[in-house]
Amino acid sequence: MRNVRIIKVFLISTGLLFFTVNATYVSYVTSAAWDGVGFCIYVKRETIQKRLDAYHNSISDGCGGRPSLVIPEKRGFSDLETSDYHPVFVTFGHVTSHDFDDYLKHNPDPCVAVSGLEVSVKIPLLAANASGPPIYALSVAKLYEKSRGDIPKINFLYPYFPVDEIQFNDSEFVVKNGSDEMRVSVIKHNHPCESPRPIVMEEFEEFRVSEFYFGLSKPDFSFCDRHSFQSDFCTNAKQVQSAVDRHAPNICQKYEVSNKRACDASVEVVNITSGFRDFILLGRDPINILASESYSSDTVVGLKYPCQE
Ligand SMILES: *[C@@H]1O[C@H](CO)[C@@H](O)[C@H](O)[C@H]1NC(C)=O
Ligand SMILES: *[C@@H]1O[C@H](CO)[C@@H](O)[C@H](O)[C@H]1NC(C)=O
Ligand SMILES: *[C@@H]1O[C@H](CO)[C@@H](O)[C@H](O)[C@H]1NC(C)=O
Ligand SMILES: *[C@@H]1O[C@H](CO)[C@@H](O)[C@H](O)[C@H]1NC(C)=O
Ligand SMILES: *[C@@H]1O[C@H](CO)[C@@H](O)[C@H](O)[C@H]1NC(C)=O
Repeated sequence: MRNVRIIKVFLISTGLLFFTVNATYVSYVTSAAWDGVGFCIYVKRETIQKRLDAYHNSISDGCGGRPSLVIPEKRGFSDLETSDYHPVFVTFGHVTSHDFDDYLKHNPDPCVAVSGLEVSVKIPLLAANASGPPIYALSVAKLYEKSRGDIPKINFLYPYFPVDEIQFNDSEFVVKNGSDEMRVSVIKHNHPCESPRPIVMEEFEEFRVSEFYFGLSKPDFSFCDRHSFQSDFCTNAKQVQSAVDRHAPNICQKYEVSNKRACDASVEVVNITSGFRDFILLGRDPINILASESYSSDTVVGLKYPCQE
């Protein structure tokens, strides 16, 4: 495990505003590859607030103190500052966990899948208090296909939920659960790759690269209790366990992204039933897509503790 103390000044630019933030204590736990599409929708501020309240109620006041997530006064993008809406970021795509590749190549296990399609929802641009910088995000949920069997939850602070079916190809993405369905049409501009508009690019950098993700009050490393594989993921999980216990729930997930290739993509939500409307925090409101892109990247996933200092 690379256990690195990073003292770094991030100069985070969101729209026209700049914030200076120091980050410390990041332990790298695992790595993964991603290929998919992300889009951003606007959701009513009061819906976001309800979700944040639910988050605060769901975390216990552990040794590390209770982290706080609020919609800040300065949310970065000028059109958000006075708006009744806040962005929610939805991604879907193919995830592969690298740490298990070697083992499973030699010992294939039909009940374990380390790669597959996943869908995630997060609330970006949150702060520790109303005047703080918008550097935190809340991981609301992650969906995976239940037919995959057991999976290592490499986004270990996301609440994972199984669904019946996820399909994704170059023109369409579909997720089904019982009678619920979400169908999104996609036009990827990969060949040739057109980069997303500069401002959009910056927004996405913000959401994925600069932020600290909260979610579950403790990381989910339970996969490691169920399997005796030798893997970096489980070795690293064991090593951070006592720090996690000491700082929980004030711990967050941090990404380091490399080999990123982002291309413009157009998405349209073709069909969405009420279950998935609630899942993406939309309720009955009209769908307002702010930005979208397709991207592939390698990601190192780490834990920062304490997260809010
Ligand atoms: C960030 O860290 C540097 C060096 O440790 C320190 O001088 C600076 O005051 C810190 N800035 C903030 C905003 O905490
Ligand atoms: C708000 O949070 C920032 C860091 O996120 C901190 O520097 C500042 O002191 C906090 N302000 C208040 C009033 O607590
Ligand atoms: C995939 O693409 C084809 C068109 O090439 C389409 O007919 C099919 O329904 C798509 N959707 C999924 C989820 O496979
Ligand atoms: C999927 O469907 C099952 C069974 O109807 C339900 O219990 C579960 O909450 C649903 N999951 C999601 C994420 O909607
Ligand atoms: C959208 O959903 C409705 C209701 O489930 C269904 O009748 C319709 O065929 C769906 N449309 C598409 C394009 O899948």
